[in-house]
Amino acid sequence: MHGQLRVAIAGAGLIARVHADAVRRTGARLVGVSASTPERGKAAAVELGAERAYGTSEELVGSDEVDIVHICTPNNSHRPLAELALRAGKHVVCEKPLATSAQEAAALTALAADQGVVAAVPFVYRYHPMAAEARARVRAGTLGDVHLVHGHYLQDWLSEPSDSNWRVDPSVGGPSRVFADIGSHWCDLAEWITGHRITELVASTATVYGERSSAMARTFTASRDGIPGTGQSVATEDTAQILFRTNAGATGTLVVSQVSPGRKNRLWLEVDAADASVTFDQENPESLLLGRRGSTETLTRDAALLAPDAARLSTLPPGHPLGYHDCFAAFLRDVHAAVAGGEVTHPTFADAARTAALTDAVLASTHSRSWTEVPPA
Ligand SMILES: NC(=O)c1ccc[n+]([C@@H]2O[C@H](COP(=O)([O-])OP(=O)(O)OC[C@H]3O[C@@H](n4cnc5c(N)ncnc54)[C@H](O)[C@@H]3O)[C@@H](O)[C@H]2O)c1
Repeated sequence: MHGQLRVAIAGAGLIARVHADAVRRTGARLVGVSASTPERGKAAAVELGAERAYGTSEELVGSDEVDIVHICTPNNSHRPLAELALRAGKHVVCEKPLATSAQEAAALTALAADQGVVAAVPFVYRYHPMAAEARARVRAGTLGDVHLVHGHYLQDWLSEPSDSNWRVDPSVGGPSRVFADIGSHWCDLAEWITGHRITELVASTATVYGERSSAMARTFTASRDGIPGTGQSVATEDTAQILFRTNAGATGTLVVSQVSPGRKNRLWLEVDAADASVTFDQENPESLLLGRRGSTETLTRDAALLAPDAARLSTLPPGHPLGYHDCFAAFLRDVHAAVAGGEVTHPTFADAARTAALTDAVLASTHSRSWTEVPPA
């Protein structure tokens, strides 16, 4: 591979635009994009600033003009497109969930390893410097043994029965909605920060609205389009609550919801250890709460005070807030370093297969109403 990396993006919605921005920030070429139809692809190429449109995503992922394929389409197309891209020898950045079952996610992980390519999944909350700082402190043992890991991930964009989206339809979104969509992010972050693995869990999920409008909102960032839809029966969960135990003796709880009015993207995670607790709040990502018996302190992002893994992500001076787009750019810089032969520091297909195993366990536990083991990778 010579010169600038050539990146192409399948998909043209919310997250495709975020990926396109990150690609440009790494200095790679955005050579192409595809959407749900050739016409939409052409419009998307203009909107995203890509050099060309591909008529289909299948054409894009197999193109000789592309080094790295980004898959930013709805969930049911991730596995087939990722498989085609891997078989064509491409490096792949695939959105979560990698596949809609643990078995398929594991098969893709094995295929990526066989092909010897870079295979990444944007669990981007890892790229907030203060999340990395939480990890560094927990891993250094400065908080003591971890006893309790708890938190929630709450949104409100599906909190009215007239709200809908392709994610609601299991044939497109997969058999789990709220857990696969956002619970997966929380679990990835919790395991990444603590180094613990969730070994068993008991889950209870609920579908708050058994029927929703069938007028599909484009994405959770778009308001409803005002077209009255006919009733669509809903089989996937609006909320999920999980109790879990880890391989290192901690216990935990997680509440996940897309029907919590006023909560926009509240990923909140607390690790309680023997000597101190640490709390990361994704909507206030520039600080970290450090609790001790005698005092509680808010640590504000300042590279001079951070561990090396957090300081490297702190690309602006203190007081100049970093955010979601910065996380994506930092993630892609790591992906491109791996493509260039460097160490793999980005979240991988194996990490996504891990969250797919957790998703299967959540569904199984809900079904059996009992504690369920999460198979190791
Ligand atoms: N990592 C994250 O933080 C994060 C955040 C949001 C979404 N996502 C993931 O990104 C994916 C897309 O979500 P979104 O919010 O961008 O959805 P979206 O509805 O905004 O966009 C999906 C786009 O894909 C297009 N599309 C449908 N079929 C296609 C095909 N075969 N080829 C090309 N394009 C096709 C649609 O027309 C639409 O433009 C989902 O899997 C979601 O889980 C990840």
